[in-house]
Amino acid sequence: MNNRRRNEKEIDKDTLCVNDAQDAHNMLLVRGGSPLIGELEISGAKNAALPVLCATILSNGIFEIENCPRLKDVFTLIELLSSLGARCEWQDEPDERQGAITNTPCGTTLKINTANIASQDAPSELVRRMRASFLVLGPLLARFGIARVPLPGGCEIGSRPVNFHEAGLKALGARWHVKEGFVEVTARRLKGADIVLDFPSVTATEHLMMTATLCEGKTIIENAAREPEVEDLGQMLNAMGARIEGLGTSKIMIQGVKRLSPVRWRVIPDRIETGTFMMAVGIAGGDVTLKGTMPSYLDAVITKLRLTGLDIETDENAGAIRVFKKRHKRLNPVDVTTSPYPGFPTDLQAQLTAMMAFSSGVSVVTEQIFENRFRHVDELRRLGADIRVEHRSAIIKGKEMLTGAPLTATDLRASASLVIAGLGADGETAVFDIHHLDRGYERLDGKLRAIGADIDRR
Ligand code: EPZ
Repeated sequence: MNNRRRNEKEIDKDTLCVNDAQDAHNMLLVRGGSPLIGELEISGAKNAALPVLCATILSNGIFEIENCPRLKDVFTLIELLSSLGARCEWQDEPDERQGAITNTPCGTTLKINTANIASQDAPSELVRRMRASFLVLGPLLARFGIARVPLPGGCEIGSRPVNFHEAGLKALGARWHVKEGFVEVTARRLKGADIVLDFPSVTATEHLMMTATLCEGKTIIENAAREPEVEDLGQMLNAMGARIEGLGTSKIMIQGVKRLSPVRWRVIPDRIETGTFMMAVGIAGGDVTLKGTMPSYLDAVITKLRLTGLDIETDENAGAIRVFKKRHKRLNPVDVTTSPYPGFPTDLQAQLTAMMAFSSGVSVVTEQIFENRFRHVDELRRLGADIRVEHRSAIIKGKEMLTGAPLTATDLRASASLVIAGLGADGETAVFDIHHLDRGYERLDGKLRAIGADIDRR
């Protein structure tokens, strides 16, 4: 494989790869009215890739992470691992994926050599740019006995405390000090413990599970998160030599081991990207087959979407989902409450709210996970959507037609909801501040264009 590190600038802006050229463009212009037709490859899951990359710190050697999505949050974490001394290289290979421009060096296999990690001090700017970087704290502590990482701040959707992470690491024997905005942790030796999470926090479960693999003795995490990304991380750790049981349940048991070994690991498909495209078809109409995905990760979502009248066919063996809807068919309203997996995911709440803005009745969408995740509502109202927010619920009165308008993205999933709303609005919708979007989607505009959407990056 060609290990030449690809110079992102070499790829011109029209390719489907995420690259620096996109930084120069901060707006997507969407013209509504085109149905979505064709096939799309789903990328690797952002929220699986991020903890998987952090887990490479636990062992020194060469990892090959396949199906790694090329998006900004992954690029940020690569910068962080490199700043610690790891060597990260994309394995360039012709991009055969659907809609990609062939022979564009745009591989998705990332080679990481962690043998020379020499620093345990994560740079503030990188951690503040991407909260999940905080997950390097435990692995650095487990491998080196010390770590210093900026305390992640809040973000657009909520205060995002890390008290579960703190309580868990302290239970494993860490000494935790906050100084000048940094968390400094030390431990002479880490010992397994019984931990109960007050809420099934995804990254707290991942953080404590990773750290516990190198503790002496047994750790039990009660009320653990059951998300597929947590289960995939645990399976990778087991492939590295960890001894973890109960993955996918709310009780995870980790028997500590002395050391772990590097592995080749394939990142699972992105269920949130999959759901986003399903709802795009719900808004624009058409007939799209999503490939390289896992229908079983989306049971709650598929059940709800079928209630709206969207036609959905799944093929678990083929890893495919077909979504289709006649262009002018009005979808039924539906009530949804977000909850931890296997419930309806909060990361698809904004996209569903956008889809229900076009439905034939009144829907109530309740957000139970984050305290400030309705920032897309004000922007959807600019399209003429009839939505009001009461406490943690959005009451959405569907309308047959919305009208394009200039909109401003506020956070990652809100930006996706505005883009897909534009697919169904009459006229032009300009979505500004799309750097939020590029954090968590690989080539969303390029993929939508490949199935017929009239969308340009400006
Ligand atoms: C993960 O965030 C995801 N991020 C989020 O995806 C996702 O929305 C969230 O899980 C819920 O599914 C990654 O996996 C990188 P939580 P995480 O800890 O782990 C509270 C996206 O758009 N809490 O499960 O940070 C917290 O305030 C992102 O891709 C504490 O109180 O979420 C929230 O109310 C957004 N103390 C609730 O738990 C803690 O120590 C759930 O948060 C930790 C969390």
